Amino acid sequence: MTVTGTTGSREVVLGELYRFGVSLEKELIDEFDTRITAKKYSNRSEAIRDLIRREITSEKWIKGGKVAGAIVMTYNHHKRDLANRLLDIQHDFQEQIISSQHVHLDHKNCLEIVAVKGCSKVLEKLVTAIKGNSGVNHVSLSLSMIDD
Ligand code: NI
Repeated sequence: MTVTGTTGSREVVLGELYRFGVSLEKELIDEFDTRITAKKYSNRSEAIRDLIRREITSEKWIKGGKVAGAIVMTYNHHKRDLANRLLDIQHDFQEQIISSQHVHLDHKNCLEIVAVKGCSKVLEKLVTAIKGNSGVNHVSLSLSMIDD
């Protein structure tokens, strides 16, 4: 076990895990604990790890780093040529698209889940190109962290 104190705060190294203390106002920790319970995290450490991963991923997205994620969209199957336009767009981004799944939700609506990875700036162009089509009802992008 190694104890470091270069930043003024104590940091304990346990194998590959680092343990450190965090001081928070009671109001803030109460609010955090309420959220931890609501989101079914097993403990504070897991919740904080998740927050840090999200922050790093968000930072990478802003700076044009490599990210992975899923684009989820629903669209009107009856809109003329829309399915073909969405396919054309996906062919333009075949380097970023790992796989896609198409679900015929009902007679009118389709759901598509597209797994992607690559530079955030390019993925943003892909999402924008999809959103720009009339008949696309909803587009969301969910990002995950990639270990470099
Ligand atoms: Ni369909």
